[in-house]
Amino acid sequence: MTVAQIAAVDAMARDSSAQSRTADIVAAADPQVDAAVRANVVGLSFFYGDKQALYDVSFPIHDCKVTAIIGPSGCGKSTLLRAINRMHDLYPGNRYQGQVILYPEEINIVSPEIDPMLVRLKIGMVFQKPNPFPKSVYENVAAGLWVRGIRKKSVVDDRVEQVLRQAALWEEVKDRLRTSAYSLSGGQQQRLCIARALAPEPEMILFDEPTSALDPIATARIEELVAELAPTVTIMIVTHNMQQAARISDHTAFMHLGRMAEFGVTEHIFTSPSDQRTQDYITGRFG
Ligand SMILES: Nc1ncnc2c1ncn2[C@@H]1O[C@H](COP(=O)(O)OP(=O)(O)OP(=O)(O)O)[C@@H](O)[C@H]1O
Ligand SMILES: [Mg+2]
Repeated sequence: MTVAQIAAVDAMARDSSAQSRTADIVAAADPQVDAAVRANVVGLSFFYGDKQALYDVSFPIHDCKVTAIIGPSGCGKSTLLRAINRMHDLYPGNRYQGQVILYPEEINIVSPEIDPMLVRLKIGMVFQKPNPFPKSVYENVAAGLWVRGIRKKSVVDDRVEQVLRQAALWEEVKDRLRTSAYSLSGGQQQRLCIARALAPEPEMILFDEPTSALDPIATARIEELVAELAPTVTIMIVTHNMQQAARISDHTAFMHLGRMAEFGVTEHIFTSPSDQRTQDYITGRFG
């Protein structure tokens, strides 16, 4: 999108009937984009104490589509995902500026008035480094269901199996569900965290480099999972793998030094980017 289009999206996001009209603008900007907008990131800046890591980031997140976030190491991809999940609230001194408007509720999910726990029930996240709880494999996955008040054992058992299968882990753990999650390999722990994120059926899932520690078979399975989920779940995925971004995403956001350098339909970004930095990055000239 051009600066003028982003400014128009910003103005619309402040308007009470913004959702459908924002989608109109994006659709008008690019005839291939026809999806509704699930969330609008509007002028988002973020500070780790005195250190600013995001600068005035604006882009739409399309409903039930896959948005890839790419860019060189340290450009702010994880910081952006953690902001959308309100993970930065866990540490004092961190500060958000700007808005992330979630539709249809039209709430600004980075506002201090919004409970981070509410945000995390709606928006699940899989982190760059696997972070299982110090519990059994089964308890790690079931925890997301218990939080939602789902306790009937047969229901929990079925869902645990279903999401472990979706995350391509079931065959490896079905005989050791009661052993500690820490006994799994790094790649298995990552797939366990993916299963844990899926269990409570969030509306949106943020994946931060979910396949960087996985072998090619598990990577292919996770890419299939993203494609399976996309018709019903809004997905954002950070990846350093350009082929993966091109394969699985509908839209791509290229970040550079804490700013959104370019956002658009994936095919356009990878074939005719409008920013020279995007061109240089996707062709391997830097990063
Ligand atoms: N907890 C923190 N405190 C202070 N600065 C931080 C913290 N975490 C990250 N940063 C800084 O914020 C900037 C963005 O980091 P971030 O982890 O978001 O980058 P990234 O794009 O995810 O990189 P990578 O591809 O290496 O994962 C970097 O300059 C980083 O040093
Ligand atoms: Mg990162």
